[in-house]
Amino acid sequence: MNLDFSQIVPYIPFMLEGIWATLKFVFFAIILGSILGTLLALFKIGSIKPLRWFADAYTSIFRGTPLILQLMIIYFSTPQLTGYDISAFLSAILAFGLNSSAYISEIIRAGIQAVDKGQTEAAQALGVPYRSMMKDIILPQALKNILPALMNEFITLTKESAIVSTIGYLDLMRRAQVVGADLFRNFEPLLFVGFIYWCLVMGLTMIGRVFERRLKQSD
Ligand code: ARG
Repeated sequence: MNLDFSQIVPYIPFMLEGIWATLKFVFFAIILGSILGTLLALFKIGSIKPLRWFADAYTSIFRGTPLILQLMIIYFSTPQLTGYDISAFLSAILAFGLNSSAYISEIIRAGIQAVDKGQTEAAQALGVPYRSMMKDIILPQALKNILPALMNEFITLTKESAIVSTIGYLDLMRRAQVVGADLFRNFEPLLFVGFIYWCLVMGLTMIGRVFERRLKQSD
């Protein structure tokens, strides 16, 4: 056994800065993914056929190809197409946001469509207008299906964020690799950032639990 955690001590601040680097782009990717995902979900449940086709094709492409490929296409091919360099940070937000929106749109669509049809029928029979039917009857129920799945998606995104290390963005993962290369020992830095990822995911899980408990109270 050859383990010596004391050697990574000088590198700890460097690795901790990776938390901020990771959370920063994951945060913006979640915002982008949520906005786009909601829009795509509306397209999917709406009655305008071309929009529905577009949303379905979009989802199929972004879920049907590897995230790492999408990231590389955005990072390496944008300069070739536009003549302008794109930063690793912006590429990461775009790739993760666009990718996640495909998943989020399915979560929202499925959540809304899982609400019993009788609810819609009853509301219509009572003459409730579409807007308030959605706002007061359908969406509150749909939210109970949507929220846990959405939290899951954010957790997935946080973990998948390690993929940006492949385009040189200095996130947690990349920092562990840099330290590993510097020290010629990889186990300690990898284990260290592994623990940080776990803490981040536990934090998100806890936030999710609080939300779910709030929703249950309204039952
Ligand atoms: N590793 C998978 C891929 O490369 C993960 C995709 C991201 N997943 C997500 N729920 N946003 O396709």
